[in-house]
Amino acid sequence: MKNLIIRKASSKDQLALLSLEQKVIEAERPFNNTIKPENAIYYDLNNLVTDDASHLLVAELKGKIIGSGYAQIRESKKSLKHTKHAYLGFMYVEPDYRGLGINKLIMESLLDWSKQQGIFDLYLDVYDENDAAIRAYEKVGFVKSLVEMKINLGV
Ligand SMILES: CC(C)(COP(=O)(O)OP(=O)(O)OC[C@H]1O[C@@H](n2cnc3c(N)ncnc32)[C@H](O)[C@@H]1OP(=O)(O)O)[C@@H](O)C(=O)NCCC(=O)NCCS
Repeated sequence: MKNLIIRKASSKDQLALLSLEQKVIEAERPFNNTIKPENAIYYDLNNLVTDDASHLLVAELKGKIIGSGYAQIRESKKSLKHTKHAYLGFMYVEPDYRGLGINKLIMESLLDWSKQQGIFDLYLDVYDENDAAIRAYEKVGFVKSLVEMKINLGV
């Protein structure tokens, strides 16, 4: 897409990122009725912007941020062959721009960054009913793995 820039987020993007974070939360609300009705927070944005182990990208079109996504290097479980992996999150594209491959561009850039850090194993979490997101991730090569199961014993 002409004029689209994929770039690293900076502290100057904080307001836009806070707004996108709430949009991700709203997008996932239909898939999880235990998300707090208000004041829900998903990310430590300051850490994602400043920490060398994190790479937070934004998609910018004509000065407006329309998409996001991060990779964060984390310690892996001791049972696994790899000692570290990259965890991906904060995947968001404004509704008017979906289906144009913007998330693909963000993810490919995060995959490149991970490889440059010597990290070749990547993980993310996605709700089973979030078909659009699952398709977008499968497009860049992710495959389904662990399934989280849950139960609520309240009344
Ligand atoms: C998930 C999300 C980031 C994907 O972004 P995107 O830029 O539309 O993704 P891409 O264009 O790279 O891939 C989109 C694929 O998803 C599907 N898709 C999802 N929404 C679509 C839409 N509105 N129009 C067309 N295709 C859509 C298509 O299958 C498409 O594949 P195709 O191009 O081969 O047809 C975006 O749908 C989104 O922001 N969703 C709300 C937030 C969210 O659920 N985030 C995921 C948290 S785990």
